[in-house]
Amino acid sequence: MLLKGMLKISTRAVSAARKAFDEGPWPKMTAYERSRILLRFADLVEKHSDELAALETWNNGKTYEQAAKTELPMFVRLFHYYAGWADKIHGLTVPADGDYHVQTLHEPIGVAGQIIPWNFPLVMFAWKVGPALACGNTIVLKTAEQTPLTALFVAKLFHEAGLPDGVLNVVSGYGPTAGAALASHMDVDKLAFTGSTDTGKVVLELAARSNLKPVTLELGGKSPFIICEDADVDKAVELAHFALFFNQGQCCCAGSRTFVHERVYDEFLEKSKKRALRRVVGDPFKKGVEQGPQIDVEQFEKVLRYIRSGIESHATLECGGDRLGSKGFFVQPTVFSNVQDDMLIAQDEIFGPVQSILKFKDIDEVIRRANKTRYGLAAGVFTKNVSTANTLMRALRAGTVWINCFDVFDAAIPFGGYKMSGIGREKGIYSLHNYLQVKAVVSPVKNPAWL
Ligand code: NAI
Ligand code: MG
Repeated sequence: MLLKGMLKISTRAVSAARKAFDEGPWPKMTAYERSRILLRFADLVEKHSDELAALETWNNGKTYEQAAKTELPMFVRLFHYYAGWADKIHGLTVPADGDYHVQTLHEPIGVAGQIIPWNFPLVMFAWKVGPALACGNTIVLKTAEQTPLTALFVAKLFHEAGLPDGVLNVVSGYGPTAGAALASHMDVDKLAFTGSTDTGKVVLELAARSNLKPVTLELGGKSPFIICEDADVDKAVELAHFALFFNQGQCCCAGSRTFVHERVYDEFLEKSKKRALRRVVGDPFKKGVEQGPQIDVEQFEKVLRYIRSGIESHATLECGGDRLGSKGFFVQPTVFSNVQDDMLIAQDEIFGPVQSILKFKDIDEVIRRANKTRYGLAAGVFTKNVSTANTLMRALRAGTVWINCFDVFDAAIPFGGYKMSGIGREKGIYSLHNYLQVKAVVSPVKNPAWL
């Protein structure tokens, strides 16, 4: 029954998006009109920021402060950014050989299917919906089953902003039913997915087996965060802590392998442990709380399993190592030292507040070890030496390298993965290519202007 219901909802949503694309008015509006709607929407979100931040905390368990101060402004900024792109998308005239007039049209692809995860419900919505609408597509977006709330709220605000019916359809539902229906639908022209590498493979296959819709994937990671011997240890400790523990450790790009040069290792370890012990865990609505609960029982148990695996493989448990209290999915901020590359906690995505600290001796060694992973989403480098930073920046096989900073997510900065961390880039100018296709138009012409 549930399966049938979900499939029906997905199918109705796709029909609505198809009709809105084929019959308009959305793709036929002027780009300026589309841009105005995106701006009006962003302004409405800004007006409802407090309400939305509170709803996002209910939705996900992240701290209200983080939702209000970081994620809502990021959301609004991203829609302003893509509203700015809407009327700057155009093709080229091409000087072909012979008496031909050749132009390219940059057209929207059609109906975009978008599947998002639960760790940043609003931010993921923005990264997907912003560029797709700026390019004139229509959308069916499926939220994660854990976090349906804020997408529904902002969809209502889109309606208020004047977005025509059928252009944006938000479906709440489960992955193997609603998500899979979207990935394999013959009337969906493009698929964008963020989530685990395993599910990324599933949706890529569903797309291939149905209508070969192009797929962009933003998947898992095991990002190295490299602290060189010249680093200011206090700053490095704070940044490495942030890189891992931010958002309860539930970040695809979390700096989850902290490589520390042997000369600063002992001091770094001592201070990292102290910092983790000071981390304030509790009610995410309470001021000063840095860490809320994990998203659900499944993720909570997964994190605890990895902690047990770290202990069993003889990494040194410096602090934490268990749940916090007996109620709710709170996990103690956990630090392991003496972590070796072949341990599971150094290879798999834990997606929780578990820091793994590894020791290294020289730059060539750390490059080799940092790259020895199936993932390639992001990397962090902490050094005062520009030459060391440049060497590492070139050698690391990752879609983003943050130098002396981490988790900087400006709307204009492209984001995406090398290797099994994904296909394609989101944000910035790069995301526009995901939602456009190029049509070459050729006609004979006498005496072309450029000959
Ligand atoms: P998931 O990749 O299974 O779920 C993400 C989205 O995909 C959700 O909307 C889900 O409903 C949908 N989905 C699931 N199965 C599907 C299917 N067969 N067809 C179409 N859509 C489907 O991730 P999950 O199970 O929530 O978490 C598992 C692990 O994935 C986490 O522990 C973490 O390691 C990783 N993850 C990575 C994220 C990232 O930002 N790259 C976000 C969430 C999870
Ligand atoms: Mg899953």
